[in-house]
Amino acid sequence: MAFATRHFVRAASSDAATAAAKKLLIKHITIIGGGLMGAGIAQVAAASGHTVVLVDQSDEILKKSTKGIEESLKRVTKKKFADKPEAGAEFIKKTLKNLSTSTDAASVVHSTDLVIEAIVENLEVKNELFKTLDKFAPEHTIFASNTSSLQITKMANATTRQDRFGGLHFFNPVPVMKLVEVIRTPMTSQKTFESLMDFSKAVGKSPVSCKDTPGFIVNRLLVPYMMEAVRLFERGDASKEDIDVAMKLGAGYPMGPFELLDYVGLDTSKYIIDGWHSLEPNNPLFAPSPLLNKLVEEKKLGKKTGEGFYKYK
Ligand code: NAI
Repeated sequence: MAFATRHFVRAASSDAATAAAKKLLIKHITIIGGGLMGAGIAQVAAASGHTVVLVDQSDEILKKSTKGIEESLKRVTKKKFADKPEAGAEFIKKTLKNLSTSTDAASVVHSTDLVIEAIVENLEVKNELFKTLDKFAPEHTIFASNTSSLQITKMANATTRQDRFGGLHFFNPVPVMKLVEVIRTPMTSQKTFESLMDFSKAVGKSPVSCKDTPGFIVNRLLVPYMMEAVRLFERGDASKEDIDVAMKLGAGYPMGPFELLDYVGLDTSKYIIDGWHSLEPNNPLFAPSPLLNKLVEEKKLGKKTGEGFYKYK
């Protein structure tokens, strides 16, 4: 019996050792792009105890990103530590201590476990960045893109670490939205996939996994739904106001499709649908809309320009 127990303990600890060797514990992160998404990801990663370097093209942009993070942290803290202002102040101090900034990605990736890219939605620019970082990052470093609409496989192929490459698709606003889509290409290793899932949980999110398919899960369902609403309106079958009311009251959606299109930005939605249409020109779900194209041409891009399907003043 004593032998059996010892044997079991040894077997169990060797299993644990193998499992530990299989996954990478992500502690140090480099985030490229300090815009809307990159700053949000930096905030949740730093707040959950990771050391984070946020990279962008200029100190001026990074100053703005840091200020935005500080303000967002204050809002989070007000709610989270409503009765304990001292603990709240300590939380902000600790989080900001975990965060630093740089304008030189190549010089800061030498000790990073994970690079998350959140720069402009342009495949050539992203590939150029990954190709450069591939030369400077250590062997074990995982690369991930936060792209909404580009193929992760194409970015992985710009590097020599296709097995250590995946997608980490966060949602806007990052500190509030609980979901992360973890994207695996046919080349993403199990170890990389599990490390990305663990990292997503460690920053307080609920990850789901998806193959490298246009739109992943959420946008693949959401974008054709919004486009179908535009087509319904274009045909004159119903007014945009009635379609919005119908989906809020009949389907329980928090926003109608036209309100959502205006919130997301009509240019962003057009960019996504045009990209998918070029991949699958015969798919009617991905057909472009003349009305959407006209509004974008007129620079009526939604809330951000004061007018889209609705006027905001
Ligand atoms: P953004 O325009 O707010 O920020 C992009 C930042 O990247 C800018 O600060 C820009 O200066 C910087 N940048 C551009 N090229 C760079 C380079 N080579 N090196 C370093 N920094 C560079 O864009 P946003 O909205 O944060 O989007 C970033 C990525 O996240 C895109 O791929 C987008 O598709 C994706 N995404 C966006 C969502 C959204 O709701 N805005 C939601 C989920 C994903």
